[in-house]
Amino acid sequence: MVFELIKKNRSYRRFDASHELSYELLTSFIESARFTPSGANLQRLRFTIVNEKLACDEIFPALKFAGYLKEWTGPAVSERPASYVIISSESELDTLLAIDLGIAAEAILLTACEAGVGGCMIRSFAPEVIKARIPSGNQIPHMVIALGYPAEKVILTDSKSGDIKYYRDENDDHVVPKLPLDELIL
Ligand SMILES: Cc1cc2nc3c(=O)[nH]c(=O)nc-3n(C[C@H](O)[C@H](O)[C@H](O)COP(=O)(O)O)c2cc1C
Repeated sequence: MVFELIKKNRSYRRFDASHELSYELLTSFIESARFTPSGANLQRLRFTIVNEKLACDEIFPALKFAGYLKEWTGPAVSERPASYVIISSESELDTLLAIDLGIAAEAILLTACEAGVGGCMIRSFAPEVIKARIPSGNQIPHMVIALGYPAEKVILTDSKSGDIKYYRDENDDHVVPKLPLDELIL
């Protein structure tokens, strides 16, 4: 069921770092993005797979995880993502390209989720570090998707009084408040 998959597909930020992802599996996620809609069918987005340990170690410090969790310094070494997909294009983001980006990223994460892999879209990153990992020199990075086998529980809850900040509960589970339907439908 698509609805169940969408609910299961949360942003995961703590992974089992000992569990690697194969290049073939990562390619299958991008194959899914290949068939998504694209404004004017321009298909300007490009994808870079990063799954070698050394390269992942270089990327990790360039990423900002979970801005609302002020006390948390990010995943521990044993919890780090196993792989990354960098999404880029030759041009800066315009409206159509930003929409393409979101659709492609969600397709990657849904396909990953179906395979038992979790991930997180990351827009907060040091661009020069990420750009250096893209084999083609004329690309501008727009998003990094961190991927791995999840090592955390993510709980959805209805937000109260418009408080949308995610938090960790007493069990150290990650809780994500979502606005109730009657606040969304106008
Ligand atoms: C466009 C976009 C940018 C995001 N950037 C970051 C980021 O830089 N770092 C991070 O930890 N999470 C990032 N996220 C994940 C969001 O924080 C997450 O989607 C939100 O907390 C809701 O959780 P959920 O995805 O489980 O519903 C981003 C998500 C989106 C859609």
